Amino acid sequence: MARKKIAAGNWKMNTNIDDGIALAVAVADAARSKDTVTILAVPFTHLYPLQKKIKSSSKVLLAAQNCHHKASGAFTGEISAPMLAAMKVPYVILGHSERREYNHEDNALLSLKLRAALDAGLKVIFCCGEGLDIRKANAHVAHVKKQLTESLFQLTIAEMKNIVIAYEPIWAIGTGETASPAQAQEMHAAIRSMLQKKYGKRIAENTSILYGGSVKGNNAKELFSQADVDGGLVGGSSLNATEFVQIINAF
Ligand code: 13P
Repeated sequence: MARKKIAAGNWKMNTNIDDGIALAVAVADAARSKDTVTILAVPFTHLYPLQKKIKSSSKVLLAAQNCHHKASGAFTGEISAPMLAAMKVPYVILGHSERREYNHEDNALLSLKLRAALDAGLKVIFCCGEGLDIRKANAHVAHVKKQLTESLFQLTIAEMKNIVIAYEPIWAIGTGETASPAQAQEMHAAIRSMLQKKYGKRIAENTSILYGGSVKGNNAKELFSQADVDGGLVGGSSLNATEFVQIINAF
């Protein structure tokens, strides 16, 4: 089984519902006929209306951008994994660097969130990546290894089949500075080798590893042509249908 090619758009806290529906419908119309998988990680408020607007298909899927680590309870303002699963939202993003930074999510908490998501039957796009200081100190591979070891690698082989990994160097997010294709490939190959050591060849070969950080219509092709880059997790460029479709077409 070849691993999936995935273009995932992370809309973050952008678009109101009307703009969001127009954007999602335009992207879904273009993406449905492709051999690749398109995932739209939209604000919580958009999930239910989009579930109704976009005909469900294995090619175009929705994702939440976060979930709580408990299934229910007195956690004002939070959304649980079972709530997402009950709405048939297939994916959730966990471990994004913005949540690690602004919401103080550490590897231990992310481990609990992974457990909650998988127990509810969700698939997870799990993010990792280093800041600029760590990159400059040439400690990026060790940093990502620690992030994965302390959270993701608590899962079983069977559970790993529901995981997509996204490598997002923080210094490339929203900065316009993209990792070079060689830098992306170096890290993706390192992650795949970590997967092989921990889980064996089958999981290593079948886990999609996405690159995120200033992916654009004009650089996606080169990034996606790297041997271990299976697609992208795209922020800013996923908010423009024409540009995001260009990225989907870059495979
Ligand atoms: P940008 O594509 O805007 O750099 O964002 C990347 C990202 O954080 C996706 O999750």
